[in-house]
Amino acid sequence: MTFTASRRSAGRNLQESESMQEDMVPSLQFDVERLQPLCPIDGRFGPRSQDEIPLRALQFKRGLLHEFRKGNATKEQIRLHNLVQQLPKAIIIGVRKGGTRALLEMLNLHPAVVKASQEIHFFDNDENYAKGIEWYRKKMPFSYPHQITIEKSPAYFITEEVPERIYKMNSSIKLLIIVREPTTRAISDYTQVLEGKERKNKTYYKFEKLAIDPNTCEVNTKYKAVRTSIYTKHLERWLKYFPIEQFHIVDGDRLITEPLPELQLVEKFLNLPPRISQYNLYFNATRGFYCLRFNIVFNKCLAGSKGRIHPEVDTSVITKLRKFFHPFNQKFYQITGRTFNWP
Ligand code: A3P
Repeated sequence: MTFTASRRSAGRNLQESESMQEDMVPSLQFDVERLQPLCPIDGRFGPRSQDEIPLRALQFKRGLLHEFRKGNATKEQIRLHNLVQQLPKAIIIGVRKGGTRALLEMLNLHPAVVKASQEIHFFDNDENYAKGIEWYRKKMPFSYPHQITIEKSPAYFITEEVPERIYKMNSSIKLLIIVREPTTRAISDYTQVLEGKERKNKTYYKFEKLAIDPNTCEVNTKYKAVRTSIYTKHLERWLKYFPIEQFHIVDGDRLITEPLPELQLVEKFLNLPPRISQYNLYFNATRGFYCLRFNIVFNKCLAGSKGRIHPEVDTSVITKLRKFFHPFNQKFYQITGRTFNWP
């Protein structure tokens, strides 16, 4: 069964499309026979060493856990399988439009990872935060105790209060940041907002008008899509609470063209045994992106709201933005120890 979301569906709003992704997943009934993996992923690596966490067959995870994640587990099933709702051991804190959904979905291919499907917005939303940590835990999917839960809320990266709040929950949590070339990311950000306006039949400014201050002809640093792309400024706030070793930077541009090596770096960072393989990722020419293969019967691509066609932007504005981001990028490379070939 293959689900392919085309660019034609780009008109849906983000909330809808993200929850739609979950709806795209067929629900599999738990069946003892499914304990036998259909996918070669588990058998391929030979016998596991003693110190590796026990991993369940991927097919088992797909069938049973998916039901649990959707809240369909009976109390009896939860008790029988020792399932728990665990606070995340790792969070994808940003960056918006960096490829956060693709990263989460791809990591979820790993049998030891369970994703929180929705963006929870616990740490960036005062109202949610006031509900307390147990409210947050209850938003988490059911998982086996040896598995790790991962959530993603890209607003965390840019929200002032979040680093301290996450630190208070778990000062040794692992933090993932996925970045793209800053100007492309800003245009992607703009495209998402533009689409929302168009859906409501509203008019909107051109990107050039928002990104460049008409009075000074300089880059408009008050424009949110520009500010979000100044990665180093946000990271520096996080570094007041967490050492750099607790962060892993994912190259969002490479995740699009060559996802496996990026995912392998994340597996390493999370101390997970390598389980995601090329088998789990296939290029879908219609979609123009890599899609996910869980096993021989179940594939899925990300929703159409991922991979929008960007509007054409004046080259002089692109040049100006790239020049503007350049010193911030250099600092970002220096702090993170990861260099990108951003112009
Ligand atoms: P564009 O819409 O600009 O192409 P986020 O999930 O953080 O909102 O990021 C969205 C971006 O993820 C998309 O930006 C897209 O390029 C990128 N992406 C990376 N891998 C993808 C994949 N396999 N399928 C769809 N989009 C992917």
